[in-house]
Amino acid sequence: SKKHYPFYMEKEISEQPEVIEKTIRSRIKDGLPDFSADGVDDSIFTECENITVIACGTAMHAGLIGKHLIEKACAVPVNVYMASEYMYCDPIVSDKTLVICVSQSGETIDTLEALKYAKSKGAKTLSIVNVKGSSIAMTSDNVIYTNAGPEIAVASTKAYTTQVAVFYLITAKTALLRGCFNEDETKSFVNELEKIPQAVDDILQRKDEIHHLSQSLLTAEHTFMIGRGLDYPALLEASLKLKEISYIHSEAFASGELKHGTIALIIKKTPVIALLTQEKLMSKQISNIREVESRGATVISFVKDGLQTKDINPDFILPNLNDDFMAIPAVVAMQLLAYYVSADKGLDVDKPRNLAKVVTVE
Ligand code: M6R
Repeated sequence: SKKHYPFYMEKEISEQPEVIEKTIRSRIKDGLPDFSADGVDDSIFTECENITVIACGTAMHAGLIGKHLIEKACAVPVNVYMASEYMYCDPIVSDKTLVICVSQSGETIDTLEALKYAKSKGAKTLSIVNVKGSSIAMTSDNVIYTNAGPEIAVASTKAYTTQVAVFYLITAKTALLRGCFNEDETKSFVNELEKIPQAVDDILQRKDEIHHLSQSLLTAEHTFMIGRGLDYPALLEASLKLKEISYIHSEAFASGELKHGTIALIIKKTPVIALLTQEKLMSKQISNIREVESRGATVISFVKDGLQTKDINPDFILPNLNDDFMAIPAVVAMQLLAYYVSADKGLDVDKPRNLAKVVTVE
């Protein structure tokens, strides 16, 4: 049931501290990542020469965060494919490839077909799935279940954050096994992961601030979201959320890419949502914000605590975690933003038009 919540989406957003905790807790032993209860053989992380993530929509966005994390920590090349494109673009796949499929439902037909194709080419397969016993889980050699519980709202929220949580564990495990992290480094990475539920809770406690900020989007027809580094894939997800439930056209851009075309669309009062959680990219991101402001854009900024400076006066302050761990808190803030826009427009938040929870047509 929805309990006292007006929509499942709000209930599911609010469950995130608990379900992220549940997803990681059973997979940390003595401060280190441990998939033995999942029956996942460590060799899949050491024997591969490359990793391919296959998924659709929100699940694919979780994969893009995974790519950043794994490539940075483990120096293994990671490709992320939209499942519907995968087998039609002659992907490089062999028994040296670890294919990771990501799916909440475990029934998305494009992802399932891509998984079967990869298996037929000899790839080792691992799936990150929420629904137990689903087709993708049953077809895959290895499964790590997200413990998000049933997700009813069409817009995925808690499934996404638990998928990303699993990618942190996979990153830690792979880095340790491949000698990229020593034990202490792995423990401190895992320790930072364990801070995420609290950081998410902190945002939920301040949801009224986000509700207030959302009011400026109610009449918008277009919006742009800009960020660099890990903030960019987080904004792809934020943008999809806003589109699917509020029907506002939104595009996420890696900030530096704007001036290669899209900045032509920025006019007086265009809402631009800017995310700043990556310290090393701060000054570049701030100059990209100035570029859109000077064209008249109205910027709403979400900034990690500690990164606010005289050059940036945040509209919302995100909790302070290590930069690599900001993707989950940032997306939770954006989920709330999209939610309030949709609810305040009087839309059917849980069942947006033209969409189904499980997509079983190719
Ligand atoms: O069940 P899956 O995770 O395989 O579904 C994938 C996408 O259809 C899904 O994430 C979709 O993009 C959601 N509506 C996003 O909120």
